[in-house]
Amino acid sequence: MINTGKTVGLIGSACGGLESIRQELVQPFLAQGWSVAVTLTPTAGTWLEASGESRKIQEITGFPVRVAPRMPGQQSPHPTVDCYALVPASANTVAKLALGIADNQALTTACEALGGGYVPVVVFPRVNAAHARQPAWNSHITGLRRAGADLIYGDDVWPLHEPRSAPGRQLPWQTIRERIQAAAQRS
Ligand SMILES: Cc1cc2nc3c(=O)[nH]c(=O)nc-3n(C[C@H](O)[C@H](O)[C@H](O)COP(=O)(O)O)c2cc1C
Repeated sequence: MINTGKTVGLIGSACGGLESIRQELVQPFLAQGWSVAVTLTPTAGTWLEASGESRKIQEITGFPVRVAPRMPGQQSPHPTVDCYALVPASANTVAKLALGIADNQALTTACEALGGGYVPVVVFPRVNAAHARQPAWNSHITGLRRAGADLIYGDDVWPLHEPRSAPGRQLPWQTIRERIQAAAQRS
């Protein structure tokens, strides 16, 4: 990877793969001289708090892992970024992003970035076949693509599995890193 000193806003939600974001995304980007600022949904925040990952991520990135919104009058604890990456994105967070529901800090940031159109937004929906059969799912995907989100989604990158049929399935981390890299370079 090339050292271009980019900054990634990594937004994680409560689904498979969240436990590996430090090893698979944060450390590789830091190793190439980038900065990474992590924001989590409230549920994802409880998961990584309980596992001790939030503290480790905070230590190596130098930024607080954001879960709660700032108080009025407080400064944002995160820098401006070259790219947002919603990885992994739960079906719930994808649906809310598509509808513009900003009811937590992670979605507030993501919705604003998508609507603003200035900063690329990469999304990896970590979903199964049942999530994708939910009646509104396809319109969410279509809407996000139309809004300019870079969706890492489809049979070539993530063939859908039935629920509980693929425990511990690895995310396509290499592809995810490459797409974040390309998006940050564009900005
Ligand atoms: C152990 C566990 C694993 C889960 N894995 C997934 C998953 O891979 N994909 C998904 O869309 N939802 C998954 N869920 C469900 C989400 O955690 C749930 O919809 C939650 O409300 C998502 O919240 P968030 O989008 O605010 O993070 C999982 C739940 C649990 C308890």
